Amino acid sequence: MSIVLVSTSRDPKKWYKALKEKNEDLDIQIYPDIERPEDIEFAISWKHPDGLYKNYPNLEVVASMGAGVNHILKDEDLPPKVRVTRIVDDQLTKDMSQFVLLQCLAVSRNLFTHLKDQSSKSWSPRAYQTPPKTNIGIMGYGVLGKEAGKVLKANGFNVIGYANTSKIVDGIKVYGADQQDEFLDQTQILVCLLPVTSSTKGVLNFELFQKLKDEAYLINVARGEHLLEADLIKAIDTGKLKGASLDVFQEEPLPESHPFWEHENIQITPHVASMTDPESVANQLLENYRRMKNGEALLNVVDVQKGY
Ligand code: GLV
Repeated sequence: MSIVLVSTSRDPKKWYKALKEKNEDLDIQIYPDIERPEDIEFAISWKHPDGLYKNYPNLEVVASMGAGVNHILKDEDLPPKVRVTRIVDDQLTKDMSQFVLLQCLAVSRNLFTHLKDQSSKSWSPRAYQTPPKTNIGIMGYGVLGKEAGKVLKANGFNVIGYANTSKIVDGIKVYGADQQDEFLDQTQILVCLLPVTSSTKGVLNFELFQKLKDEAYLINVARGEHLLEADLIKAIDTGKLKGASLDVFQEEPLPESHPFWEHENIQITPHVASMTDPESVANQLLENYRRMKNGEALLNVVDVQKGY
């Protein structure tokens, strides 16, 4: 019986090596060189071609290579009996919170503007905003949101959160779904760390941006599907938003012709906010493989209906 590694944009050989180092007897096939589809029980997957998993009749589990699973769930031909898992990993969580901190510091210290000044040889000192005067709102308060909130707070920022239900987490007020306006009204830097679900697709839109503080800034490190891209350009060009840092896009790689590339107030990174280290997560994947074989409950299982 075997594991299949399926990834067209992440190097499957690194995953192969990390898994084999833990257990050299594992039978691992690497897509697209599949010789025995009927042997496949467990897939480790990143952006697989839709419909692929119909071809593996004994497939039981599809494990995402990352924290997100929308790339798996969006496949309408995913066999219904398949269980889906995600990665929860300390390093992945830390990497995300550091990336969010980096962006928030860059915004509050005008770093992006100073870099632009450099390219035009312009010496233009600008007053910066200290963390205690900077309100950050984190939308999505799961594992990643919670850690980002903690790290931002430890660096002196004013942090609030937004989730389905209101709560206090690590001394941070998290607003519930019925308090969205109140949350947005206080937010100057909006960080999106939501999962993709039918209710969060397109949530970052013109109407929502209008509810933020003036000259707000968007940091999207969740998924491209959250953002209505034309609405972002409109909100920046009409002066409501000061700019945005985007790590994720509706279409990746971002097409060369996309207007974001040339927009002076949009900062682009190529989906690198937090990338799974295969060596760091090999144990949790193999633990789930073992649990699957023994009929035990899996770790980090996703509710396919909810989408996270
Ligand atoms: C990255 O986007 C991940 O889902 O881990």
